[in-house]
Amino acid sequence: VTDRTASDVTLRVHVAGAGLIGTSVGLALRGRADVVLTDVDEHHLATAVGRGAGRAWDGSTTADVFVACVPPQLVPGVISAAMDSRLAAVFTHVASSQSRVQLQVESQVPDASAVCGGHPLAGRERSGPGAASARLFHDRPWVVCPGTSTSVRARDAVRRLAAECGAVVIEATPHDHDAAVALVSHLPQLAASAVAAQLLNGAATALDPLQVAGPGVQDTTRIAASDPRLWVDVLRSNAAHVVPLVRALSDDLRDAADALEALADADAGRRHADAEQVEAATERLEGLLARGVAGRARLPLKRAGARDVHVVLVSVPDRPGQLAGVLAAAAAAGVNVEDVRVEHLPGRPRGLVELLVAEAEVRRAREALASSGWDVVDAS
Ligand SMILES: NC(=O)c1ccc[n+]([C@@H]2O[C@H](COP(=O)([O-])OP(=O)(O)OC[C@H]3O[C@@H](n4cnc5c(N)ncnc54)[C@H](O)[C@@H]3O)[C@@H](O)[C@H]2O)c1
Repeated sequence: VTDRTASDVTLRVHVAGAGLIGTSVGLALRGRADVVLTDVDEHHLATAVGRGAGRAWDGSTTADVFVACVPPQLVPGVISAAMDSRLAAVFTHVASSQSRVQLQVESQVPDASAVCGGHPLAGRERSGPGAASARLFHDRPWVVCPGTSTSVRARDAVRRLAAECGAVVIEATPHDHDAAVALVSHLPQLAASAVAAQLLNGAATALDPLQVAGPGVQDTTRIAASDPRLWVDVLRSNAAHVVPLVRALSDDLRDAADALEALADADAGRRHADAEQVEAATERLEGLLARGVAGRARLPLKRAGARDVHVVLVSVPDRPGQLAGVLAAAAAAGVNVEDVRVEHLPGRPRGLVELLVAEAEVRRAREALASSGWDVVDAS
């Protein structure tokens, strides 16, 4: 066999960096590839090996693909050292922004044709091997980003690696990738962090706002729990694409504040209530919210045709096994649950399970759950 990446040959993969992404790569490839792992943190390495993500590298074997799953600023050094030691035929990384890393790698390595970047658009707000999952990349996009010198062989090997991990392979230039993730990943991260940072301002009244916090603030700030150090690195390496988006967002927010101020002043009688100004302010506010509705509607849902999903709400006591019970009852009735969310009610020993099911299945789901004794909430 001359081409070791031919699809009938077991891929040999060297994962450097057994953190969230590296360990998830190893777990996803379990039984599909021969994986060795390295990490500067012995504890991470032992955890990843213990979870079955691969073997600790013995210092001698070579691989078909070397995957640098380390923070972006370390990628060039790690890949160039691995190439110097001839650890693999093809070298890739998973950095959240691609252009800068690709250019740095190309300027450091002796053979840039063996390097092809890639980015799995899957992750978590937690890091380390403990947070890894075999299904992290399942059906998620993995953008393969060949540089101008990347060989077809290197590109194909990275495409295969991503596909073996269960991801949907998309190819793009590093530049186009970075422009896209600036909008769908980097801007949302900053926006979520900025909203969550406001929660530190505490209560100015007798009511602690956190007591009435619901799914809105939970959903909007979920990714704000991410590792700040990793994100500074990510944002910095894609700053050129992120800056204009952040400015556009702040312009929108400033406009919204001005419009609200005008409305509040008019309502409080502080300013002569000029009907035209009030109307203009209302329109500006409504315009932003309407653009939000339109933008949100452009986001792809889990799968085509799933736009008609409806929510079935079930109130459950805060006890182990409740979610499994609800899902089992839905499955027994042949109801296909598209998605599931759990809302914990602050200060109450109950939670709300939201099952997202197709419109046509709502009645059957409600009836089946109620007849098996579940407390189905009337959401009408
Ligand atoms: N976290 C996400 O959601 C996400 C998603 C897609 C891509 N990425 C990218 O994946 C990469 C890793 O991120 P992560 O979330 O897995 O981080 P992580 O902190 O969970 O893992 C990084 C690992 O690299 C190890 N490491 C550091 N220096 C090393 C070196 N010189 N040699 C070997 N190992 C070394 C660390 O000990 C750690 O185990 C980054 O490039 C990031 O941009 C992250």
